[in-house]
Amino acid sequence: MRFLSLNNLEANMCLARPIYGDDGRILLNTGVILTGHYIHRLKELGFPGAYVTDQELLDIEFPETISIQTRQRAIKHVHEVFESVQIGKTFEVKGLQASVKDIIDEIALNPNVLVSLADIRSLDGYTFAHSVNVCVLSVILGMKFQLNELELYDLAMGAILHDIGKIVVPEQILLKPGPLTTEQMEEMRRHTFYGWQLLKNHPELSLLSAHVAYQHHERPNGQGYPRNLLDEQMELYAKIVCVADAYDAMTSKRIYRPGLTPAEALNEIHRLRGIQFNPEVADRFIESVAPYPVGSMVTLNTGEVGMVADVNQIARDRPIIRLLYDAEGNRITSYKEVDLVKELHLKIVE
Ligand SMILES: [Fe+2]
Repeated sequence: MRFLSLNNLEANMCLARPIYGDDGRILLNTGVILTGHYIHRLKELGFPGAYVTDQELLDIEFPETISIQTRQRAIKHVHEVFESVQIGKTFEVKGLQASVKDIIDEIALNPNVLVSLADIRSLDGYTFAHSVNVCVLSVILGMKFQLNELELYDLAMGAILHDIGKIVVPEQILLKPGPLTTEQMEEMRRHTFYGWQLLKNHPELSLLSAHVAYQHHERPNGQGYPRNLLDEQMELYAKIVCVADAYDAMTSKRIYRPGLTPAEALNEIHRLRGIQFNPEVADRFIESVAPYPVGSMVTLNTGEVGMVADVNQIARDRPIIRLLYDAEGNRITSYKEVDLVKELHLKIVE
């Protein structure tokens, strides 16, 4: 399997992963053969690309932090909660609670998966898929901080609902393509406060989860919003969600930009540690995420191009690479893997 951007998709390619609508339902399932019509529709819906099968890579296993079903159910539940709030109903969190518990259980079973491929989101489905990813990353981080099950649960609920206040922000501000005016920016920033209000009065949510919504844009240097809190005034859960939110936003592919690679995003988090992110949380995050997860395409200093086939736990920045193209750009058809822990003259350059 490999990810191809929309422009590189061709008819007769076979989908290796399902593509979801913004409500979490499957639009096109694994095994579907793409047609020109399907590719056109994906473009219309704002998908950046798709995972397709590749004969030479069939034996590579892609480790997943959570199962496709759990992810899909969680996206559906976030969508439902957002929808209820939008139409002014009190929102039910039962479904979401069950999803969050599944997420925690699955990560607990598989704590060493170093976070794998980003999922593919349509323009409309971005918020829901993003909320679920932020939840997954936050739970992984929470485990690094030895949080117990109840604490993980409050963290996860806060993480999955961190941006719920955006529903209260008028759509013309939320979806405005150009830069915002000062007043519009102020209103946009108020999504933190709206989120706090929505969550703190909910009988089934902890005040700590509500604080995540309130504080997830604060920064340790006091330059965040809405209250310019300092690091010591922030809750740990909010510091965690702050990093998870930034990482997922940086790495997600959008139709108008490709998204940073995990290695680039990790560098960025390292660069902003102490400024935008609590230093300890940033460090634990960097330890927990592979810079080159299985499935990444990389170019070596020899000019050869390949796909990461496995991550070395002892040296996560030196994975095992299945070579796919030689230095001249010709497809390599025979099986050839290099282990960067053993071949020290080889380096990933891109
Ligand atoms: Fe936010």
